Amino acid sequence: MQTSKVILLTGASSGIGEATARLLAREGHQLIIGARRTDRLQALSQEFSNIDYLAVDVTRPEDLQKMAQHALTQYGRIDVLVNNAGIMPLSPLSALKTDEWNQTLDVNVRGVLHGIAAVLPVMEQQKQGQIISVASIGAHLVWPSCAVYCASKFAVRAIMDGLRQETDTVRVTVVSPGVVESELADHITDTSAREAMVDFRRVALPAEAIAKAIGWAIAQPDGVDVSEIIVRPTASPY
Ligand SMILES: NC(=O)c1ccc[n+]([C@@H]2O[C@H](COP(=O)([O-])OP(=O)(O)OC[C@H]3O[C@@H](n4cnc5c(N)ncnc54)[C@H](OP(=O)(O)O)[C@@H]3O)[C@@H](O)[C@H]2O)c1
Repeated sequence: MQTSKVILLTGASSGIGEATARLLAREGHQLIIGARRTDRLQALSQEFSNIDYLAVDVTRPEDLQKMAQHALTQYGRIDVLVNNAGIMPLSPLSALKTDEWNQTLDVNVRGVLHGIAAVLPVMEQQKQGQIISVASIGAHLVWPSCAVYCASKFAVRAIMDGLRQETDTVRVTVVSPGVVESELADHITDTSAREAMVDFRRVALPAEAIAKAIGWAIAQPDGVDVSEIIVRPTASPY
């Protein structure tokens, strides 16, 4: 088993992704990180010599292909993909925020599929690799105002479990966080959903807690597939 791995990570410009980039870089892995806010990625890359960054919008399949190509050109292999990028513009369905519904599905579902498409052929050829997707407790439960977000995360679990059953060489892992401190709720435009989130998110884990779970799943031996980890704040009922 390789101790230093070549890892692609999306959504590394804040929250769970940023914490994961820091933890994996400290552990000595080679990272290629992506997001749209490249100023934040550049700062991480300046802090750690083993972090490369690229401008990546996960709704664009070609951006994921570009990440994979960078890893192959520079390091000759791809050991791990972490599909972490996600958005959560919550609202009740009656608010008819159809653009936000579509955006949620584009980023949270199609973004994961674009990541899988970029690395799966490479990993199958290598006969090793690991694809990790960050889902949510919202992949297990549904709440009012969360229907589309939860649908997107249920879909991520379904896609990942299908992938797990289809491959006997690639390790397939879902990491499902409970409430975590991040910028995720900052982009909610619906007033009622935004206010509900203030109470819902009162008890939250630091992002490092999820980074550690991701790091632990990566550290397992090649023959060990950690299929899903749920990490919640002890004091939270959710
Ligand atoms: N925080 C929680 O309570 C919680 C709980 C369960 C699951 N999660 C999941 O954890 C993951 C990380 O979220 P977070 O909590 O760390 O929130 P966050 O701080 O808002 O981070 C989200 C990340 O996704 C990136 N992103 C958004 N749209 C993107 C796009 N189109 N292309 C590429 N990157 C994009 C953002 O980067 P740019 O804006 O720079 O592109 C950012 O780096 C998400 O999948 C989220 O659903 C979070």
